Amino acid sequence: MVDNVTKSSSKILGVGSYLPSEVVDNLKLSEKVDTSDEWITSRTGIKARRIANEKEATSDLAVKAAQNALIDAGLTAQDIDLIIVATITPDMAFPSTACLIQHKLGIPKVASFDIEAACSGFLYALDVADGMLSSNRYKCVLVVGAEKLSSIMDWEDRTTCVLFGDGAGAAILSNAGSGSQLIGFKSGADGSNPNLLYQPAGGSLLPASQDSLSSRGHFLKMNGREIFKSAVRVMERASRELLEAHGFTENDVDHVIPHQANARIVESLSQRLEIPLGKFFCNLDKYGNTSAASIPIALDEARKSLILKKGQLGLFVAFGAGLTWSAVLVRF
Ligand code: ACO
Repeated sequence: MVDNVTKSSSKILGVGSYLPSEVVDNLKLSEKVDTSDEWITSRTGIKARRIANEKEATSDLAVKAAQNALIDAGLTAQDIDLIIVATITPDMAFPSTACLIQHKLGIPKVASFDIEAACSGFLYALDVADGMLSSNRYKCVLVVGAEKLSSIMDWEDRTTCVLFGDGAGAAILSNAGSGSQLIGFKSGADGSNPNLLYQPAGGSLLPASQDSLSSRGHFLKMNGREIFKSAVRVMERASRELLEAHGFTENDVDHVIPHQANARIVESLSQRLEIPLGKFFCNLDKYGNTSAASIPIALDEARKSLILKKGQLGLFVAFGAGLTWSAVLVRF
C-alpha cells in the first residue's frame, strides 16, 4: 500500500452545480482585452466563461449548488451535520464562507469550515469529508467547491484573465444510503515554489496598502508554462499511484473527470496515462477554469448527460496552486 492512500466507505448521494447567468465568450472578452478567440481557443480550448454579477458572492453561488445537490440526493438542508467548503475566493478573509453558507441554508449550529487547496480543493474536501465520516461523528456532509475568480482577475493581464470563470458545484456525502461509492484518495502538495501561482497581497506577508494596490498585488499571478509542466507530471503520478494502491490499472478506468484548466493539459495527461481522450469528460470550453468548482460542475454535467453507468470506475484528478494535487477513485 502506497503511503497516504486510504480506503473509503462513504458515498456521494447527490451532486449539484450552479453557474452565473452572464456568458462572456472569447469575442466579447476580446473587446476589452488584447486577445482573440483564435489565440484562446488554440492555446486552451476555452470558448466562454460565466461571470457573476456584483451582488453575487461566492457563498451565493455555493448555496444554489448545495440546494441542487440536496434535491438530487432527495434530502433537505436539515439532514446535513457538517459543511466543508473549498475556495480561494471566500466572501471575506473571515469568517469562513462555510459559516455564511450554513446561515443561508438555515441550519444553525452545524459545524462549518473552509479548506484552501486551490484547484485541488474540492478533491481535498472529499478526502477530509471521508475522514470525518469514517470517524462516525458526522453522518451527512455537504462538500462545496465554489469560486468567484472574476473578483481576483487582473483584467489588464491577458495571460491570466482569459483563463478563469465563476461557478459552484456541491456533493452530499454519507456512509448510509445509496450512491456512488468512494474508493480511495491520493492527495499531496509541494510548497517549495509558491510564486508559480499566487495572489501576493492581502495576507499577513503583504497586508493591503496603497503600495499593494498600485502594484496590482491583489490579483492572481501565474507562471503558465511552469504550471503546465508540473500539472501533467503530478496528475499522472497521483493517478498511477492511486490506481496501483487499489489494485487497478489504467485500463480499468471508464471515465476521467479532470480539473478543467486547459484542453492541452487534458490531452497530455491522456497520452501519458494511456487512457483514451474519449474517456475524459471536459466542459472547459463553456466555463473556463473555475478552480475548486471545476470537478463538481463537470461531475454534475457528466451525470446529467447519462454517460456515467452504474458500476463503472471513475477517476477524478486535479492540480492547483500550492502546488497541490489530488486523485480520487469512485465506483458510480
Ligand atoms: N491573447 C493573445 N496573446 C497572448 C495571450 C492572450 N490572452 N496571453 C499570452 N499571449 C501571448 C504572449 O504575450 C506571448 O507572446 P510573445 O511570444 O510575443 O511574447 C505568446 O502569447 C505566448 O505566450 P505563452 O505564455 O508562452 O503561451 P503558452 O503557449 O505557454 O500558453 C497558457 C499560455 C495558456 C497560460 C499555458 O501556459 C497554460 O495553460 N498553462 C497552465 C495554466 C493553468 O492551468 N493554470 C491554472 C492552474 S490551476 C489553479 O490552481 C488556479
